[in-house]
Amino acid sequence: MNILIIGSGGREHSLSWKIAQSPLLDQLYVAPGNGGMGDIAKCVDLDAANQNEVVEFCHDKNIEFVVIGPEAPLVDGLADRLSQGNITTFGPTAAAAILEGSKGFTKDLCAKYKIPTAAYGRFKEAATAKSFVAEKGTPIVIKADGLAAGKGVIIAENIEKANTAIDDIFGGQFGEAGAELVVEEFLEGEEASFFVLTDGENILPFGTAQDHKRVGEGDTGPNTGGMGAYSPAQVMDGQMIERTINEIILPTVKGMKQEGRPFQGVLFAGLMITEKGPELIEYNVRFGDPECQTLMMRLTSDIVPALIACATGNVDKVPVTWSENVALNVVMAANGYPGSYQKNTEIRNLDQAGSADNIVIFHAGTKKDGNAILATGGRVLNITALSPTVSEAKKNAYKALDQIDWEHGFCRRDIGWRAVKRENV
Ligand code: AMP
Ligand code: GLY
Repeated sequence: MNILIIGSGGREHSLSWKIAQSPLLDQLYVAPGNGGMGDIAKCVDLDAANQNEVVEFCHDKNIEFVVIGPEAPLVDGLADRLSQGNITTFGPTAAAAILEGSKGFTKDLCAKYKIPTAAYGRFKEAATAKSFVAEKGTPIVIKADGLAAGKGVIIAENIEKANTAIDDIFGGQFGEAGAELVVEEFLEGEEASFFVLTDGENILPFGTAQDHKRVGEGDTGPNTGGMGAYSPAQVMDGQMIERTINEIILPTVKGMKQEGRPFQGVLFAGLMITEKGPELIEYNVRFGDPECQTLMMRLTSDIVPALIACATGNVDKVPVTWSENVALNVVMAANGYPGSYQKNTEIRNLDQAGSADNIVIFHAGTKKDGNAILATGGRVLNITALSPTVSEAKKNAYKALDQIDWEHGFCRRDIGWRAVKRENV
C-alpha cells in the first residue's frame, strides 16, 4: 500500500525509517519531511493545515493509510477530515485530541474517572488563580490550557514567580492557548513516558522511555522539546507498568469512550512516579520526540499492522516484538536553542558518523541543498544507538556524535545519567 506520514521532525524520520521496512509498503510519502528522509520516502510540499489539499493528494496518489506525527493537525481535526475522505488514519479525532489540546479537560477527566494526578484548579481570570496560589503555597505549577509547543508550563518556586506567570499567560504570552490556565500541585518523583496504542477500546502497551527536557546538563536551564531519551525506562518495571495501565490508562480509554470521544491512536502518558505510585502529569496524543526514535530502534516487528489496528480495531491482537537491547538518543541542537539560533549552517561527515551497525542518525530540523545538509531548525539531529546497556548505548551514541562536523551545534553530554548511575550500583 501507499502510505503518507505528516510531519518533519526526528519522530517522523524514525517512523519513516521503520515503516520503510514494512513488507506491506509500496510507496512512502512524507509531508513535508526533512533532509534525512529523501532516500526512503518522497518528500512532498503539502500543508497539513490545508486539509482538503491533503485529502486530494491522498486520492490522487492512491494513499491508503496516513500517519499523523505532530499534535497540531490532530487538534485541528485532520484525522476527522481524512476519515470523511475514506482514508484510514493513525491519530485521534479532534474530539479525542482534546486530551492534549486542553489541559483543563484532561484534569476534569481525571477527577471524574478517579485517575491519579496533581490536585488542581482551572481559571479564566488572574485574581482567582492568584488566591488559589496563595492558599496552596509553593512550589506550584502554572500551565496554559492549550497547545504551547511545550513551553506553556511554569514551575514557580515562590508566590511572586507564580503571580508573574499568571499575569504573563493572561497577558497573551501564549496567545489563545492562554485564555484559560490550570494551577496544580507540584509532584515530587521521577518522570517517565509510557506509550499505549489503542483502538478506542482495547490497548497495546507500546514501550516506556525517559527523556531529558531541560537544555542543560544535570537537568538545568529552560525546558526544551527534549534533548535526549532512552528506552526502556528502568523505573517502569513490570509492577509499575501494570499499575499505570490499571489506574491511569484503562480508566482514560473507558472514560473517553463514555464521554463520546473514543480515543484511537497513541496515548503518551507523561508520568511522575511518586511515593504513592504513578500519577499523570499530562497526556500527549502523539508519539514523543525524541522518545519515538528510541522505540523505533527497539521494535523488531512490523509497525504498520499495529498502527492500522488503532483505526480498524483489535489492536490488542497485533503481535509485536522488541529488542532486548536499550536504545539511547542524543539530540544535537543549534547553538542558542531553545532561544534564537542561526539557520542554514552546514553539517558535514554524517555518513561516516552514522556508519556503525548499531547507530542511526535521525534528522529533525535539516534540509538537503544539493549534496549538502543544512541545519534549519532548533533541534537538528538525533544520534541513536542500540546496545545491551544504557552505559554502552551512551558511549556508542557519543562516539558517533563526535564524528559529526558541525561547529554551530551543541548537545548535552549526560543523556541517560540516571540509568547509567543505576547500572553502576
Ligand atoms: P508538561 O508539558 O505538562 O509535560 O510539563 C512540562 C514539564 O513540567 C514536565 O515534564 C515536568 O517536568 C514538569 N511538570 C509539569 N507538571 C508538573 C507537576 N504537577 N509537578 C512537577 N512537575 C511538573
Ligand atoms: N519529549 C516530550 C514530548 O514529545 O512531548
